[in-house]
Amino acid sequence: MSLGAKNENVVWHSGKVSYEARCSVLKQQGLVVWFTGLSGSGKSTIAVELEKMLNEAGKAVYLLDGDNIRCGINSDLGFSDEDRNENIRRISEIAALFQDAGLITLVSFISPFRKMRQFARERAGEGNFIEVYVNTDFETCMQRDPKGLYKKEISHFTGKDSAYEEPSDPEIILDTVEHTAVECARQVYDEICRRKSIGL
Ligand code: ADX
Repeated sequence: MSLGAKNENVVWHSGKVSYEARCSVLKQQGLVVWFTGLSGSGKSTIAVELEKMLNEAGKAVYLLDGDNIRCGINSDLGFSDEDRNENIRRISEIAALFQDAGLITLVSFISPFRKMRQFARERAGEGNFIEVYVNTDFETCMQRDPKGLYKKEISHFTGKDSAYEEPSDPEIILDTVEHTAVECARQVYDEICRRKSIGL
């Protein structure tokens, strides 16, 4: 992995431990599993179940969740298009680093813009990235309203007065109306297993 800096005097340099050496210790390959969908669609609930399944299977896994990340490293960002793009840019870079560390990295952010999800894919590297579209419609999310945010009529709210661009070619589409969170997590788990390199 290498990164491009703004300043020409800053250059990426590699250490003495290769990606392969890290993977050999962990007995797995790194992967980014990127959940996208509306607020209340079920992304985080499913990702939490998947994290548990992978951990119990003996895999090194970590979940990066939008709400949690916005409590810390991204606490300076709001919900304008510009801030959301910066939110996703930072988390794309962090996910790529975690992937390079050899972790199965679950990412659960609304990530409403196609351009930034494509950026995340490119940072992780094609073949290391699974885009999971949690395709729960706006009406269902509004009825569920697990955090009471739809009721509050917040401005720049995704699906209301802030755009959500549906994925055009995701690896997985989940139906949370017909299936439970555990069933959806199992569907993603099965896809991860199909990638033999993960070693499940
Ligand atoms: S993203 O659009 O920048 O990817 P992110 O996933 O980090 O969003 O954060 C979304 C979470 O922030 C939602 O699940 C919800 O709890 C909360 N939230 C607060 N304000 C908004 C808003 N205006 N639009 C969407 N979600 C919001």
